[in-house]
Amino acid sequence: MRTDTQQIVRLEDYRPSDFLIDRVELDVGLHPTATRVVATLTMRPNPEGRPDAPLVLDGDELNLKALALNGRSLSAEEFEASPQSLTIAQAPRQPFTLTIETEINPTANTKLMGLYRSGGNYCTQCEAEGFRRITYFLDRPDVMAVYTTRIEADREDAPVLLGNGNPVAGGVVDGSDRHYAVWHDPHPKPSYLFALVGGRLGRVSKTFTTMSGRAVDLAIYVEPGKESRADYALDALERSMRWDERVFGREYDLDVFNIVAVSDFNMGAMENKGLNIFNDKYVLASPETATDMDYAHIEAIIAHEYFHNWTGNRVTCRDWFQLCLKEGLTVFRDQEFSSDERSRPVHRIAEVKTLRARQFLEDASPLAHPVRPTQYREINNFYTATVYEKGAEIVRMLRTIIGEADFRRGMDLYFERCDGTAATVEDFLSAFAEVTGRDLSHFARWYEQSGTPRVTVKGHHDPDAKTFRLDFTQSTPPTPGQPEKGAMAIPVALGLVAQDGSDQDGSDQDDSAQDRSWANAACERLDSRGVFLFDKPQDSITFTGVTSRPVPSLLRGFSAPVKLSLDLPNEELLALLRHDTDAFNRWQAAQTVAMRLLVGLAKGVDAADQDIGALSGALCSFMGRDALADPAFAALVVTLPSEADVAQEIGQDVDPDAIHRARSQMRQRIGRSCAQPLQRFYDALSDSGPYSPDAASAGRRSLRNACLDLLAAADAGTGEALAVRQLESASNMTDRLASLSVLTTLPGAVREEAIARFGDRYRNEPLVLDKWFTLQAAIPEDGTLERVTGLMQHPAFSISNPNRVRALIGSFAMLNQVQFNRADGAGYRFLASIVLRVDELNPQLAARLLTAFSTWRMMESARRAQAEQALRSIAQKPNLSRDVGDIVSRSLEEGGAK
Ligand code: BES
Ligand code: ZN
Repeated sequence: MRTDTQQIVRLEDYRPSDFLIDRVELDVGLHPTATRVVATLTMRPNPEGRPDAPLVLDGDELNLKALALNGRSLSAEEFEASPQSLTIAQAPRQPFTLTIETEINPTANTKLMGLYRSGGNYCTQCEAEGFRRITYFLDRPDVMAVYTTRIEADREDAPVLLGNGNPVAGGVVDGSDRHYAVWHDPHPKPSYLFALVGGRLGRVSKTFTTMSGRAVDLAIYVEPGKESRADYALDALERSMRWDERVFGREYDLDVFNIVAVSDFNMGAMENKGLNIFNDKYVLASPETATDMDYAHIEAIIAHEYFHNWTGNRVTCRDWFQLCLKEGLTVFRDQEFSSDERSRPVHRIAEVKTLRARQFLEDASPLAHPVRPTQYREINNFYTATVYEKGAEIVRMLRTIIGEADFRRGMDLYFERCDGTAATVEDFLSAFAEVTGRDLSHFARWYEQSGTPRVTVKGHHDPDAKTFRLDFTQSTPPTPGQPEKGAMAIPVALGLVAQDGSDQDGSDQDDSAQDRSWANAACERLDSRGVFLFDKPQDSITFTGVTSRPVPSLLRGFSAPVKLSLDLPNEELLALLRHDTDAFNRWQAAQTVAMRLLVGLAKGVDAADQDIGALSGALCSFMGRDALADPAFAALVVTLPSEADVAQEIGQDVDPDAIHRARSQMRQRIGRSCAQPLQRFYDALSDSGPYSPDAASAGRRSLRNACLDLLAAADAGTGEALAVRQLESASNMTDRLASLSVLTTLPGAVREEAIARFGDRYRNEPLVLDKWFTLQAAIPEDGTLERVTGLMQHPAFSISNPNRVRALIGSFAMLNQVQFNRADGAGYRFLASIVLRVDELNPQLAARLLTAFSTWRMMESARRAQAEQALRSIAQKPNLSRDVGDIVSRSLEEGGAK
């Protein structure tokens, strides 16, 4: 391995930059293979830096063409340049200008970092450390400058030229085929927020008037001909802007806001100041090509990147250890936006499902790390579920603890105090400490300690004293680098629900009446919002005035990212499904019962026949009672935990085949005993009227498709007939894809025919073909690996396009538990070979694929040995990228998580 693969960056080593850059003038002459960049940097020594330090600028694969200091060309002895850095040992001690000319090749840039080409257009991606691939720079987020960018290009090739900030000039270059545009961004920003775009692009636009009455031109640029597919994104942008004004008092601060959709992008989207660049899958949508879930993602990501304008751009991060300061907070904000625009409980359940599937998984893996890591080898590997999703949960807990009003006051103070600065997690927390007068130092442990806390609760009812006591204990398992753990400050939202075996007459019980029967129950340890702050290793709380044994409803709304164990019998959980006033806990109750049964079946320790009967009975009557009132919620309730969820719950010596059999068996049992209501809902919710992506219509589709899935599990013949009919008659991609997905679970000629026809129908729609790749990669049958390698030869597949690679290979590794984890190790060897191939083109993408191995230590011993061998074969390879080298070595390290 190269020596730099071992270099570690540490939080404790942070020191301010020795030099500052106040202004950047960039002149970029776009050319497919030889783009010229002239950067004029107005610089000065930092009063907080070291007085005699040399000036060392970062570079990455750069080619220096010329260098001048205060207008004078430097001679070879006055500087040292390599592709990785530019050093001037004797830099001036007064303000100076440095003029740097570099030449770069955007066509050869397969890493998709810095300036590259996508679909014939030019675009950039600079976060986290991509600006140094454009010019030598102090490429760190605490160096903030005002940028002016002049872009010049061939008029035919790139009629559209976009930059950060506002357009200030433009025109043709006399006597040539070229033209130029000048953009000026008045807001000082770090280099990672720099962007430019040049190309042939179509456009949709509208004017937005801000709360103070300023007009802003909003525009979205897409591949010509696809303009109408950007309408939904534009509408989501407008709603996001309005929401941030209303909920956080945040107004937009430039005359224009541009979004560009590109087809080759490592991530989902990027919040460059005034010029967001998006993976086109998160912009383009039409009923024919996008599912309800795509629409929801587009809305959330448009909002997320827009919200960064305040949480990330106006207030940025001091260093990359503070990444959660912008990402966790902005995820929290986009979650709140989606909850307000859609159904709050349904959205909360969806958030928690992803949190558990991704973040809890990461926390239990060798890649576990704190929300604010203390060291990294490659920062790209820290854009993780932990930083993002657990980071958002921390903000949510803070709001739960201090209340909405103080939360808003704290946010206001944070913006006021930190606007225009590069801030830290401490700056964020101190704003809330100040407005509330609270000491948040214990709470801050959430940023430092990794691993998912486990909270165990036991209830004791004393009928004579009419008291109900809850005994809490907590512990957090060891994780890499953190063998010992302290107690966390855990907000537990809770309530008591009446047992209620009595109302079996089927009469409609008013749910809130159930809570009211405990109106006399009191507990002084709860705050006015019903939250108990559990911040010691053990604690107990007691309710008085409790006449009969209640069912405790704990962690309502999932008030903290912990694993709760509470040994309630199944009947009591099913009482919660029926009566809890908290929708999240109603869903959770059904999931907990289902999970117990699935784990029992998978381990073969429990026949569980009666219990499965009880669960399906409860689900049937839930459907009959509640499904039509909130179909989206009902769809979540009747969907069993995934195979990956069950594997995580089992946690060690996992046998994916046994889990797959258990889940299939349960789906079949539930499908059979609920066949009548399922069929009734399937018919009643049939596709009617023109498609609309709104949450209510999407909810009806999701319930109908959940019914279809269970009906097919109950009886393959019925399922196939229904799915084929739906596939042929569907008016939209949601229903079409759902039916094709059901067909993929039913082997045979009908399925193969349906797959072939779908592929043919959408042969010119890459984003739809990605769904088609994903469905096939997820088929849980022998032969899928061969199918996947076959599909790699499909004309639409490309190993250099991240969306294609993730859709086919990423889905195989992340969604197909049984085939990726084949006992013979072929799935692991396949992924290892792809990782090595992709690493030569795009290390970031390769490293992400490699994280599919993070569950390897949970597997039973034969699979574990196979996975380890595959990982070692990667580790042995010379010249691994830093990205892949980092993930593979952490995955193999001993210690911490199992
Ligand atoms: N700032 C990130 C994009 C990014 C991440 C750039 C890593 C470079 C490296 C952006 O704001 C972001 O978080 N995007 C997410 C989507 C979001 C809705 C969570 C993404 O790209 O996945
Ligand atoms: Zn973000």
